[in-house]
Amino acid sequence: MIPKQIRSYVLREGRMTPAQSRSLDIHWEAFGIAPEDIGETKDLYSSPLTVEVGFGMGDSLLEMAISYPERNFLGIEVHRPGVGHLLMGIHDNAISNLRVVRADGLSVLKEHIPASSVAILQLFFPDPWPKKKHHKRRLINPAFLDIAANVLRVEGIIHIATDWANYAEEIRDCLNGDQRFAETTPPNRALTKYEKRGVKLGHEVADIAYRLNK
Ligand SMILES: C[S@@+](CC[C@H](N)C(=O)[O-])C[C@H]1O[C@@H](n2cnc3c(N)ncnc32)[C@H](O)[C@@H]1O
Repeated sequence: MIPKQIRSYVLREGRMTPAQSRSLDIHWEAFGIAPEDIGETKDLYSSPLTVEVGFGMGDSLLEMAISYPERNFLGIEVHRPGVGHLLMGIHDNAISNLRVVRADGLSVLKEHIPASSVAILQLFFPDPWPKKKHHKRRLINPAFLDIAANVLRVEGIIHIATDWANYAEEIRDCLNGDQRFAETTPPNRALTKYEKRGVKLGHEVADIAYRLNK
């Protein structure tokens, strides 16, 4: 029997608004990429590439793509309403440096992103899985760092933000224990939707960034 893969997300689809659903139908072809086509989509690699896993509704990723037209962005998310919402944003702002994948980011990184192709790998407020019995669902662990080290180019950066202090500590311990990475200054980023909610509740945000050594 094939062991069931532990997932870092639960697909609570929620309702798609008619606009999100229409956007998925109309704009997927132009801005969506199937995981198996990522390696072949050569224009993705024509400028430094930022990959974000778990962009949620995607507003902060869109803001970054608009702010940095000289970079390319690839957003990966499992949540369909968020994918529909971001596709709409890409179309409405007429930008050409952001593409979207709807799939499990872990599998996409492991199986479809070419080695040494990513300048920044970012994960902002990945589900914290606060209960101890659910910690195994947390995305960042030593196995994830193997995957990150493979897709990042030399001196590429893994950038993680979380408002869960205990998760931040776990992430730092994990990165500090890995000789391939060295702590660095977090790159600029946009404020995310999830973060805005946390900040209102008084949560402290940790931005953690490590560079892949030569
Ligand atoms: C707490 S939300 C944060 C969303 C967004 N980054 C923000 O800060 O507003 C975490 C998001 O990560 C997504 N996610 C978790 N694991 C994922 C995976 N393996 N692949 C793709 N998306 C994932 C979830 O669907 C969810 O939208």
